[in-house]
Amino acid sequence: MSHPSTTYRLGDLTVNRMGYGAMRLSGPRVFGPPADKAEALAVLRTAVESAVNHIDTSDFYGPHVTNQLIREALHPYRDDLVIATKVGARRGADASWLPAASPAELEQAVHDNLRNLALDVLDVVNLRVMIDPMQPAEGSIEQPLTVLAELQRKGLVRHIGLSNVTRAQVAEGRRICAIACVQNQYNLVHRADDALIDELARDGIAYVPFFPLGGFSPLQSATLSDVAARLQASPNQVALAWLLRRAPNMLLIPGTSSVDHLKENLAARALALPDDVLSALHGMTRQ
Ligand SMILES: NC(=O)c1ccc[n+]([C@@H]2O[C@H](COP(=O)([O-])OP(=O)(O)OC[C@H]3O[C@@H](n4cnc5c(N)ncnc54)[C@H](OP(=O)(O)O)[C@@H]3O)[C@@H](O)[C@H]2O)c1
Repeated sequence: MSHPSTTYRLGDLTVNRMGYGAMRLSGPRVFGPPADKAEALAVLRTAVESAVNHIDTSDFYGPHVTNQLIREALHPYRDDLVIATKVGARRGADASWLPAASPAELEQAVHDNLRNLALDVLDVVNLRVMIDPMQPAEGSIEQPLTVLAELQRKGLVRHIGLSNVTRAQVAEGRRICAIACVQNQYNLVHRADDALIDELARDGIAYVPFFPLGGFSPLQSATLSDVAARLQASPNQVALAWLLRRAPNMLLIPGTSSVDHLKENLAARALALPDDVLSALHGMTRQ
């Protein structure tokens, strides 16, 4: 366990390690507009006013909804704001998640993100691998990553990341182009990427866990509740503070549609975890 520093790099950009994930700003099932648009805009504005300068999004959230909210709330953007997006998937009319990784689809997705975010260049684009939409699955990513690298050479993309990938795919990706970050599922009870995280930390590559609070299955554990009560914090704050301590290259993007929850989550930055608490959390049952 490392001591938390407040910043880490995404390629040649430096961001505060506590960021924000915008997926929850769209409607139910990440589809359509939010129930409370004013609250969604307030979440984004509160985040950047509270030293968040790394926002994770995608044009397939909504679709288009979260990017359009980000633009409405925050454009013109602060100079230090880094917006990371994803390509490689699209939404069906029934809200399903479908692969969209042909050269034409990837190019279209980059242009959709540029237009909806009102940007000339995307700071970070993750290739969201959809071989198995639910979890990393082996298979070559050379073809879509080569397309993305070409869009980078054209100046439309500053940094490339990978999402929902195996260690072998990260290694394959790094032979094709520079990889600034890896975004996979990881949290207190889902630690399949432990070795990968340490490997990436050694090489100065950011690791961005999605579902840091359990995503659609909120984290529930007696150990977590006990620790939270002892520290007079919420279980979510403890889960986020643990991630900040887990590795220096960990960039957090907890998602919420609520200003109150956002403030609670950001307060995890100041939550100290004593060594015995870290040991207890480390020993929690894994899924
Ligand atoms: N690359 C990928 O495949 C992928 C997949 C999923 C997500 N992501 C990214 O990762 C980000 C984080 O994932 P996520 O948002 O799905 O999951 P998460 O951060 O683990 O959890 C979000 C859920 O927790 C709730 N929540 C957040 N803070 C809370 C608090 N303080 N108290 C109570 N409930 C709280 C939210 O509800 P409320 O809205 O009510 O607060 C929401 O239901 C996303 O926003 C997205 O940008 C990437």
